[in-house]
Amino acid sequence: MSLQPNKILGAVLAVAVVAFAIDFVSDQIFAKQEPTAPGYVVDMKAAPAVAATDAPAPAAAQADPKAAAASAATDVAPIADRLKTADAAAGEKTAKVCTACHSFANTGDNKVGPGLWEVVNRKPGSHEGFKYSQGMTTFGESHTWDYATLDVYLTNPKAEVPGNKMAFAGLKKPEDRANVIAYLRSLSANPAPMP
Ligand code: HEC
Repeated sequence: MSLQPNKILGAVLAVAVVAFAIDFVSDQIFAKQEPTAPGYVVDMKAAPAVAATDAPAPAAAQADPKAAAASAATDVAPIADRLKTADAAAGEKTAKVCTACHSFANTGDNKVGPGLWEVVNRKPGSHEGFKYSQGMTTFGESHTWDYATLDVYLTNPKAEVPGNKMAFAGLKKPEDRANVIAYLRSLSANPAPMP
């Protein structure tokens, strides 16, 4: 009888043994370690809080500017009171977002937006050399950038001055606005009196 089938069976067994041996050895070398803690934790409670305070443009507020402005107007202390405890240095930090479009330098340079040196008590739409929107020019005919007007404008620029071209969602936190307005007040050789 032929030994051929036995040889084939032997070969198959040998391969199986070798494969098993490799598997066994590699398990020893590359021991698997299951992590005890997950790599990252998604904190569902923290996430909305961050979005509410730091998000530059909450979609809901943009979609309904009137409602946002109204709620800001009702349950917030007047700017005259908030300015008493405002922190101009903190305002300077918050106002970093403005520098994408505005210069605060006393040279009054215009960028995407008008220079904001001495903006407090200025007539809206009046800074030299800046091409304002029709909306801002019209607004300037009946307003002044006093503290209260700045407060409302910075809450929601689009709602306060229809047709103005400042592409900025607004500073939703009352104390952020007070700090920024205190900083704007300091941008002058002769800061306006406190309210
Ligand atoms: C994306 C660009 C942009 C950002 C960011 C921005 N602004 Fe403006 N801002 C403008 C433009 C453009 C105008 C002019 C609006 C017009 O003519 O309708 C303007 C106008 C103003 C005015 C009216 C000035 C005047 O001469 O009448 C004030 C005040 C102002 N911005 C304050 C701020 C403050 C404070 C911040 C930051 C919290 C800020 N802006 C962020 C673009 C910007």
